Amino acid sequence: MKINKLLVGTLVTCGLSISAIAQEYSQDAIYNAMCQKCHGKFAEGNPLKKGPSLIDKTKEELSVDIYELDSDGYQSSGTGHDIMEYNLGVIENKGMIVDPDKMAEYIYKTFGKNKK
Ligand code: HEC
Repeated sequence: MKINKLLVGTLVTCGLSISAIAQEYSQDAIYNAMCQKCHGKFAEGNPLKKGPSLIDKTKEELSVDIYELDSDGYQSSGTGHDIMEYNLGVIENKGMIVDPDKMAEYIYKTFGKNKK
């Protein structure tokens, strides 16, 4: 499952630009491959994985949240944040770069409750 989605993402990306090889995953592909298992298919949250819902956040909130999670050690008091920091590390090791602004925009426009 996961592998199929990664492949699809890679194929789509390669189709668009051959020079950008594995570097350029769309935020959409990254979300589906890496984020939805904890945050839900529709960003509705997944209590089993303790992933909070992301649908009622504004684009700005999401983007700030992702920036903070990405800059390790911003504040690692909560265990949840440790999980997310760890995850972003794993994700980036796979060559998927989460762009906080683009990811925030994707989540907001695709799942946001107040999207326009
Ligand atoms: C292993 C499970 C897991 C994965 C995978 C995961 N997250 Fe999270 N995420 C969490 C948990 C748990 C929290 C709660 C952190 C906290 O509140 O301290 C969180 C918090 C967040 C927050 C902040 C939400 C808030 O209300 O504070 C954002 C935004 C977020 N994740 C985005 C993402 C994105 C984007 C991805 C994929 C690139 C992702 N997450 C992948 C578990 C995960």
